Amino acid sequence: MTLLLSEKEIDSAVELLKKDETVVFPTETVYGVGANALRKEAIDKIYLAKKRPKDNPLIVHVGSIDQVHEIAQVTDIAQKLMEKYWPGALTLVLNKKEGVPQVTTAGLPTVCVRMPDNQIAIELINKCGFPLAAPSANISGRPSATTAHHVLQDLKGKVSAVIDGGSSRLGIESTVLDLTRSPAAILRPGNITCEQLREDLENVVCSDTSSDVVKSPGTKYTHYSPRTPVTLCENLDKDYMQELIDDFQGDVGVIGFSVFKAEVCITVSRDGETFARELYALLRDMDTYNVDMIFIEAFDDTGVGAALMNRLRKAATFVQK
Ligand code: TXA
Ligand code: MG
Repeated sequence: MTLLLSEKEIDSAVELLKKDETVVFPTETVYGVGANALRKEAIDKIYLAKKRPKDNPLIVHVGSIDQVHEIAQVTDIAQKLMEKYWPGALTLVLNKKEGVPQVTTAGLPTVCVRMPDNQIAIELINKCGFPLAAPSANISGRPSATTAHHVLQDLKGKVSAVIDGGSSRLGIESTVLDLTRSPAAILRPGNITCEQLREDLENVVCSDTSSDVVKSPGTKYTHYSPRTPVTLCENLDKDYMQELIDDFQGDVGVIGFSVFKAEVCITVSRDGETFARELYALLRDMDTYNVDMIFIEAFDDTGVGAALMNRLRKAATFVQK
């Protein structure tokens, strides 16, 4: 893959980050608002730009596995998982080392780390020489951004720069796996699935709805919500859905796997990976088309479906059983 940007542009972003400014950069999951993870002054600007509650810690993005050793205690299993899945959409919760400011981890003794699978992100981090804290590049509570255009909807004028790296390849946030508890637990499902991690870990708590899972601090807040209400349709009959679509009169628009006209948007059959790639763009675009209601058919809670259902349950205003 070739870089879409010139070295000069990356260098300008590095200069801003060295001055404790915020720069939005692309990753393979969603865009992130980056700042020096080791500087309180820089991290404060992330919280301010996103209007993020101060008790919701950030993911620290590294440019190599070696860099993790500077900020966290790396156990054998952590090392094994990093070597297998990185660069990639697996975030690990590890015990932190001194030097990571309290504000980055919201006062927790643990730190989230991830090496993104995106050449621009890696080049940026490595040129900075320090890790970048980066939460998703949206105002807190809104759907994450998967294009630079969607970043600007929320953060124009609130960050120092935005690097446009095109559409995010995966479209939903990384899997967050807590290795500091026993058994290990998935705090947020993502593209790296529970089924995959069961092959690496003897015992891992996966179920999103299970009462024995201690959630990430961030999971108590509203998430992924467009302004247009979402109805999550569990067990919706496919023929009935087709009837709804066929009943449309006049102009019908299609975005990816969704059909819409003035009143409603209905998503139609599609595979989980493709839907993940399109989900946040769909939620954001429907707001601009003045649709009254978005109907989304539920997925099975397996594989990437578990991650999608985690996001959809939070985004939904109504659930139709
Ligand atoms: O794919 C992703 O993970 C994206 C891209 C930009 O890398 N980032 C992202 O960051 O989704 P954010 O801030 O939107 O979500 C981070 C999640 C939150 O739910 C937060 O509570 C949790 O990770 N988290 C961060 N540090 C933690 C810690 N020390 N212990 C438990 N959960 C933590
Ligand atoms: Mg987020």
